[in-house]
Amino acid sequence: MKVEIDDGHHQEEEGEHKRRKKAKKMKKERTAPEEGTSFHLPTVSIAVCGSIIDNAQSLELATRLAGQIARAATIFRIDEVVVFDDKASSSDESCVKTVLDGSTDYEGGAPFLVRILQYLETPQYLRRCLFPKHNSLRFVGLLPPLDAPHHVRKHEWLPYREGVTLKGKPSGSPGTLVDVGLNKEVVVEQTLEPGQRVTVAMGSNRQLESIIREVTSPSKPREELGLYWGYKVRYASNISCVFTECPFKDGYDYKIGTSEHGDVLSSSEVCFPNFRHLLIAFGGLGGLEENIEEDTSLKGKNVRKVFNSYLNTCPGQGSRTIRTEEAIFISLQYFQEPIKRAVTSVAD
Ligand SMILES: C[S@@+](CC[C@H](N)C(=O)[O-])C[C@H]1O[C@@H](n2cnc3c(N)ncnc32)[C@H](O)[C@@H]1O
Repeated sequence: MKVEIDDGHHQEEEGEHKRRKKAKKMKKERTAPEEGTSFHLPTVSIAVCGSIIDNAQSLELATRLAGQIARAATIFRIDEVVVFDDKASSSDESCVKTVLDGSTDYEGGAPFLVRILQYLETPQYLRRCLFPKHNSLRFVGLLPPLDAPHHVRKHEWLPYREGVTLKGKPSGSPGTLVDVGLNKEVVVEQTLEPGQRVTVAMGSNRQLESIIREVTSPSKPREELGLYWGYKVRYASNISCVFTECPFKDGYDYKIGTSEHGDVLSSSEVCFPNFRHLLIAFGGLGGLEENIEEDTSLKGKNVRKVFNSYLNTCPGQGSRTIRTEEAIFISLQYFQEPIKRAVTSVAD
């Protein structure tokens, strides 16, 4: 879909007065942390329209596109990536499907994106065990690695490691054997089913035998050491399910939509409330407005009622269209400082 470049210019011409007013409104929305609430780590989620994959002209290009989203999520320490489907994603016109003509393996843009994102987030040494062969994974070997802190190399030592539970039983002790990507498997005290991905508290003792370790929460490395420990991936069958199936008890408490039709504010003017769970949404080819229009439970709803803020993160764009994967990088950089300010004010 082509977008008139005039729109961007028009927005750029918004008076300083209007811009200040919007910034002031956002500042007013800031709320003090609830009294007596226990300390929590705020999370940042992104939602991405999966049908962008369907426009890729080959499976290899689709894979590279998914790889870019995984890199962006990792570079900007995103906690959750939600891939939402829309009508277009199940279309028979899909370019990738055409390329894979004759194959029954093409799963559609959103499930494909989910699979590649999950695969890349998983440390290399666990992939063989956790990901059975699949046609969608044919080109993943071409992608640059995420090189995230939880992709711990064999010669490195961190107090935490990702692992997979094994079938065999440890000799002479109860518990479970876990492959954590070292020369020898380790033993954890919990009794667990084989084939599960777990986070193991390794401690500082580098002896692999005779020490019984513990499976811990994947949030521990971040809580204890401030380490980014990867993103979770969630599939949503449409944009409304991004919100209704949110895994956090009270949902996302601040939701941002991104669009060239959004408000124009400089990054320093953007002020978020003290969020617990922030969500930043990116639309497909026709933008979030189209995604909302195509969703039966949101149809007819003004996009500004769906999101707390609707922002243009790249005013005055030179290209008629900014692609979703480009907008993710641009926007996440744009939101870095506002997020940092909101998070710091919680800790104060
Ligand atoms: C191809 S664009 C869709 C174009 C559409 N007219 C729009 O609403 O921006 C795909 C997605 O990229 C993001 N995007 C594109 N331009 C943007 C901009 N200037 N500011 C923020 N996000 C943008 C939005 O998430 C949008 O849904």
